[in-house]
Amino acid sequence: VTLVIRHARVVTLADGPRPRRGAALGTLGVLPDHDVLVHGPRIEGLYPGGHAPRAERELHAHGRALLPGFVDCHTHACWAGDRVGEWLLRLQGATYLEIQRAGGGIMATVRAVRATPEAELAALTRARLAQLAHLGTTTAEVKSGYGLDAATELRMLRAIAAAAHALPGTVVPTALLGHALDPDDPAFVERTVTDTLDAVHAAFPGIAVDAFCERGAWTLADTTRLLGRARALGHPVRVHADQFTALGMVDAAIALGARSADHLEASDRPTLERLAASATYGVVLPVAGFHLDDRYADARRFVDAGGALALATNWNPGSAPSPSMPFAIALAVRKCGLTPAEAIAAATVNAASLLGLDDRGTIAPGQRADLVLLRHQDERILAWALADDPVAAVVAGGRVVRQDD
Ligand code: NIG
Repeated sequence: VTLVIRHARVVTLADGPRPRRGAALGTLGVLPDHDVLVHGPRIEGLYPGGHAPRAERELHAHGRALLPGFVDCHTHACWAGDRVGEWLLRLQGATYLEIQRAGGGIMATVRAVRATPEAELAALTRARLAQLAHLGTTTAEVKSGYGLDAATELRMLRAIAAAAHALPGTVVPTALLGHALDPDDPAFVERTVTDTLDAVHAAFPGIAVDAFCERGAWTLADTTRLLGRARALGHPVRVHADQFTALGMVDAAIALGARSADHLEASDRPTLERLAASATYGVVLPVAGFHLDDRYADARRFVDAGGALALATNWNPGSAPSPSMPFAIALAVRKCGLTPAEAIAAATVNAASLLGLDDRGTIAPGQRADLVLLRHQDERILAWALADDPVAAVVAGGRVVRQDD
């Protein structure tokens, strides 16, 4: 099937090495008034406005901005239950970590997930993936991490895979094995580092492995042991580092050759500069700061120091109840010091490269046809508008999954 999108302001993001670092992060490579021709799942060519050959399906952009589909590289979109009661407690002054220490927080969602059959978990996840696609996210990473024991972690990963099959976009699963400490299992850490990791390795070879290094969650030593063993088994590793407390995990992540260190709200400047000088991506998640405590990662410092930056929603029931990449972009500009152009690049091309998907994230011949057409002619409105739905159309793998007009 061929598709042409005519007369768009094409934000190609096509110039420069991957990942974009430093000044290159803000280079959008805009082509005003161009057509984009799609054949099957790929972009076939770009033409001056009105000059693309006719296609089976035509979509008129009327000069509006056409971007690569968003790549949400950090979500926890597979969960059951809700944490509204905990949120009300936080509004009365309890902190996220206090609630966690009292047995709530992540463990509350673990209990809900353990009580949910796999098919129901898949259905919940499928509905959330549809929400992500509606908002322009054509590739989403989805973590497990609310099972903790081997059987429930595997159930989550199977549910994520089943949900992914129903959608034209792409889902990248991550095994978040070290998310919390199970208080009912005194040998929990040991069991996770050996049995659970072995079980995940056998069923999902090559899947990325993740952990949450924090007071009251995984210690620096145990996180390093888990991720070190995962690396030795051939898994890429990622880590939740410096969300509330700087425990030295960013340097450990660099030493481990981790794909990414995510959060960084508590990282000081020298730490951000060391991360920036490494091959490990920094991922900022400003929705968590907005929902929890108004603390944000200093993405400006990280980018100025030459770091490989990605931006994500962190969608989950505890710290980040938003599926919206436009909202994450709007916050990253207001709270993390990015320009609109930098936030867009961090949410597309860089996030795709972090996930190892260099076939997307830019609009160029041969790239996957994952596209989002805005309702606006100026892409900066994506960052300016708040609680808005800026999307007019979404294409995933060459298929139109949303078209409003
Ligand atoms: O990235 N901090 C650890 N994990 C998630 C929160 C998960 C939850 O609270 O359910 C995060 O913010």
